[in-house]
Amino acid sequence: MTLKNIPSKVFDILEQDPTTSGAKLFQMGAVPSERTGRRWKGYFKNGKAVRDEHYFVEEKVTFNSPDYVEESEEEIIDLDELIAYSQKLSEIYQKRDPLIKTCDFDFPHDEPIAVMFASCFHLGGRYTAYHQFEEIFNEVLNTPRLYFITLGDEIEGFLSSFKDKKAIADQLYQVPTQVRIMEKVLDQLRDKNKLLAGVAGQHGGWWMAANYTENPIKRYFLESSLPYFDGMGYARFKFKSQTYRVAMAHKFKGSSMWNPHHAQMKAHKTEFPSADLVVMGDKHTYGVQNVNSYSWEYDAGERESDRVLLVQVGTAKTGPDEYTIKGWSTGRLGWPAIIFDPNDHCITYTETLSHTRKLLGV
Ligand SMILES: [Fe+2]
Repeated sequence: MTLKNIPSKVFDILEQDPTTSGAKLFQMGAVPSERTGRRWKGYFKNGKAVRDEHYFVEEKVTFNSPDYVEESEEEIIDLDELIAYSQKLSEIYQKRDPLIKTCDFDFPHDEPIAVMFASCFHLGGRYTAYHQFEEIFNEVLNTPRLYFITLGDEIEGFLSSFKDKKAIADQLYQVPTQVRIMEKVLDQLRDKNKLLAGVAGQHGGWWMAANYTENPIKRYFLESSLPYFDGMGYARFKFKSQTYRVAMAHKFKGSSMWNPHHAQMKAHKTEFPSADLVVMGDKHTYGVQNVNSYSWEYDAGERESDRVLLVQVGTAKTGPDEYTIKGWSTGRLGWPAIIFDPNDHCITYTETLSHTRKLLGV
């Protein structure tokens, strides 16, 4: 318990009459303010006060409180207790709604794996390529050692508060039904141990959390005991002899309309210098670039590779939605499978699932 020094004069007054209010102490010139009076009185009552002979409160010009000012209630807040309680509450909130930045995935074998990073299915939207989505999805389900990470915008997710009412009306289903559809899709991946993690995007995730205080997509991942990143995420893929570092996000900052990897490179240079792969969604376009990075560090033995793979993944929303065609190309499909070699430090990628199976040897 932390003891608090309070002036002798206050001690004397309270010893004589422990009911003396903070306001009264202030009027008597014993304390610098009513609030301090209430606080010191609280310390006195709780046995936390120590008499300090050398503590004098400077005389202040006081005024008579007007009649309408009622005396405040006694001090009910104990700062030490409040801070300890706040810390406990903060831990409870973090348990209920964990915000994570990193996680590890262990692959304790010597076989290569592939991960499809997929963003922007926009399930429930009018412009989603459902047949193509289903085809890809079934291939993933039936390909051993091919895993799946969602990079946000799993549903169309336009809520009633969205300013463009046409966008709301164009949805094939209400948002709660879209969430149910997404759950059915993810259930199949999860039940085959193919779903590794999720990352929040605007549609559904962020908007739902901002409007209704809970992101149901995050809730799905939590209830499935799977990691979920509310913002950027940094994961390690660990094999027996190799570890790969992957930075992922729905979107990194610094997008360029000319260079689809500007944001990824910025993230690599400013936040994730050890990354082997930096991948994001959001932009509904596709691009992969394998470039040299930190070659001085590599030559000095500080990095396992002098390459970083920068990836922009596409969308299943490939129809001519009105917002996009006003000034942009329509969305492009493009969810490459990234192949991780368990023995040599090497990442490669392919755009077709038949090639993925070849590289995986299945
Ligand atoms: Fe999207």
